[in-house]
Parts: sequence; structure tokens; C-alpha cells
Amino acid sequence: MDQIHIRGGRRLEGAIAISGAKNAALTLLPCALLTDEPLTLRNLPRLADVDSFGHLLNELGVSTTTEGARRGEFGRVLTARATEVRSTTAPYDIVRKMRASVLVLGPLVARMGEATVSLPGGCAIGNRPVDLHLQALEALGAEIEVAAGYVRARAPGGLRGGTVRFPIVSVGATENALMAAVLGRGTSVIENAAREPEITDLARCLQAMGARIDGVGTSTLTIEGRDRLHGATYAVMADRIEAGSYACAAAMTGGSLELLGAREEDLAAVTAKLREAGVSVEETRRGLKVSAVDGLRPVEIETEPFPGFPTDMQAQFMAMLSLATGTSRLTETIFENRYMHVPELARMGARIEVRGRTAQVEGVGGLHGAPVMATDLRASMSLVLAGLVAEGETRVNRVYHLDRGYERLEEKLQAVGADIERLSDG
Ligand code: UD1
Repeated sequence: MDQIHIRGGRRLEGAIAISGAKNAALTLLPCALLTDEPLTLRNLPRLADVDSFGHLLNELGVSTTTEGARRGEFGRVLTARATEVRSTTAPYDIVRKMRASVLVLGPLVARMGEATVSLPGGCAIGNRPVDLHLQALEALGAEIEVAAGYVRARAPGGLRGGTVRFPIVSVGATENALMAAVLGRGTSVIENAAREPEITDLARCLQAMGARIDGVGTSTLTIEGRDRLHGATYAVMADRIEAGSYACAAAMTGGSLELLGAREEDLAAVTAKLREAGVSVEETRRGLKVSAVDGLRPVEIETEPFPGFPTDMQAQFMAMLSLATGTSRLTETIFENRYMHVPELARMGARIEVRGRTAQVEGVGGLHGAPVMATDLRASMSLVLAGLVAEGETRVNRVYHLDRGYERLEEKLQAVGADIERLSDG
């Protein structure tokens, strides 16, 4: 298996182009199932999860073609065309590797009147059920059966309009409900909808395909169902979590990075905490410029649904706050069991104590390199960040986690001065 080797202590300076957002890509790709016309997505990141989603679409009978970006553009361009949907089953072997596969459920029932999707099963950051996805489809008229590890949703005459009231905010369930409702008969209302920028990106793409959606960006979405949607071309938004991660890299290494394409409005809770920690964040013509000023100050953070502080930035901030002068507190309210980076950071010299949902981080003078491994994507990134400032060499194992969500990680960091390389054993 590949490893990433980092020799810490280099100050990072320069510009990093932020890739298309993984989480937006994973909800824009299933939109191809909603129409028999081609959907072209620009600025798609080159990531393992995006490839897996492409394979899942192929499995369902959707044709996909990819090309490189135009001059001056980053990312890839993919055209998906679901002239016919051959299969309505998302098999266990694909869903188990990528939880977001469950996002074919809504579009498949809406277009085909049925869908069978494997239950995702356990996951490293908590048990992550799909009950809210199923409740939403039921509210829109689907009949749900769960048997032998699979969920079967059926709506033989098509979905109807309905009201979906989510008891808690769920990004994925909101996405499934929205993708289903756009082809339902009549008007649907989604209450307590997630407001993450990726949901807005999804709504904008659906609108480009002819969907009627009101309340975009708010917690109440009103959808007037259409008989059919048409093809469209849509550019995926910049990845706010990738941008936030590199912002931490600038702050931790005493450096300065311009994050090309990053948008302050998508990152307001993160930039507020960076500023509180003593980091300078400025909007530029091309994105955001993040620079270390003096030392880092401790802060208190609680993860929340958007516009609150994202759970997907918790691990990276923990690595950063390990270097602050004083004690920080992070409380994780979205996922249980999302502190698996704590023992690994501790092996690099961090002082962190977890009590229930709260982690208390005692700032230390410095970190030291060590062989480490992580069990999820953002946890792996926190170890890379720690490695960038640690004395000596850090070896990060299980690089496949990073490949799921950070495009050309080593290349981007090398270009701004990091001493980082990937060693393949193949
Ligand atoms: C998405 C993101 C993930 C991010 C998370 C929260 C993608 C591909 N992934 O995940 O990176 O960390 O949002 O911002 O976009 N829940 C239920 N029942 C359900 C669904 C969710 O109880 O049916 C719970 C979850 O266990 C969790 C909370 O709701 O405690 C929020 O999860 P959710 O917003 O659904 O996360 P995902 O969509 O899986």
C-alpha cells in the first residue's frame, strides 16, 4: 500500500488551486438518472469516490464519457447520459465502499418507479443510518421494504408531491428528497432541509435541468414537480473543505497561501474561527488568502449543520489547535466516534483529552514525526497537517483515504514548498 512521507518544518507559501467539491460531485452525478438527455459536469475533481460513482452509474446503464478541462479550467469534464436505465439496483459491493451510493435511491424511484439499494452498513465515523432518506421517500409516496440487507423503494405510478419534515438536519437525506421531488406529481415541501452549499449547488444544477425549486439556500424547499427534466451543463462548486484544510496548513506552518476559487460565503464559520485563532484571512480577486500572523490562540468550537462549523473540518482544526498557546475545546455534535485521529495525533506529541463528545486540546510547543494511520478521510488530513510542522519524518499509512477526497495532494503541497512525497510499493 502507498505511504505518504513528510519531513516537517517548511513554511508554505504560494497559491493552491482548489478542486471541485467531492460532496457536490457525489450529489450532482446521480442527477444524470433524472433525464434521458446528457448531463455534462465541469470542474469534477479527480478522486477515487468520483470514479466509483461513475462505475455505479455505468452499472445502472448510464453511459459516461470524460475529457480533460478546457484551457484555463481545472478538473475534468464528464458527460453522463441515461438514455435508458438498465438496472435499478445499487449492489452491496459498490455501496459498501462508498456510502454516497445511496444517493441514487431518490432519482431512480422518481424516474423508474423503483429502486433497490444495499444498506451501507457500518462506517468508521459512526453508525450513520439511512432512516431519514427512507422517511422522505415515503412522504413522497414510495413504499419501502427492507430485507436481506437491501432497501427496496417502489412507486409504480410515479411519486407524488408531499411534505417532508426532517426531525434532524441531514445533508444526504435532503439531497435524496430533492432529487426525488423534482419529478413528483404536484408540489412538495421539504422542511428542516440542510442548507449546506453543496445542496445549493444541487438545486442550481436541477434548475438548469428544468426543475422548479423555491427557497434555495434556506431550510424550506418548495418543489413543483415536472413530468420530465432536460439535459444541462453545470460546473461543480469549489471544495470548501479542501480550502479549509489548506488554510490550516498555512496557519500551522507560519505561511501564507492564496486558495484559488475558495469562497468566503461557503466558509464563514471556518474563517471566523481562523481569525479568532489569530490567523489573517482576506478575500482576494481569485479566492481567499490565509496567512499566519503571530502564534496561534486557542478557541472553542462546536460542530453544527451549515452555516455552523463543519464536522468535516474538526480533525484539521484539532491538529492546528495542538500548536496554540493555551487550551482549546472542540465538541462534535454531528457524528459519534469521530475522534479517531486523537490517538494518532497524540503519538506525534499532541495533548488531547476526550470526554464524551468534547475534546480538550492543550497546546504544545511542537510536534514530532511518527508513523501514523487513520481510519477516515478528514482524520488522515489532520495527520498530514501535523506532519507538515512536525520535527523529523511522518509516514502516513492508508493513503487511500486521502485519495477519496484530496485531489493531487502531494503535488499541490510540494508546489507551495512542502517536503512531501508518495511512496508506492507497487
Ligand atoms: C454528508 C457529507 C459528509 C459530512 C456530513 C455532515 C457527503 C457525501 N457527505 O454526509 O462529508 O460530514 O454530510 O455535514 O456529502 N442521520 C440519521 N439518519 C439518516 C441520515 C443521517 O440519523 O437517515 C444522522 C447521521 O448519523 C448524522 C447526522 O444525521 O448524525 C447528519 O448526517 P448527514 O448530514 O446525513 O451526513 P451525510 O449526508 O451522510
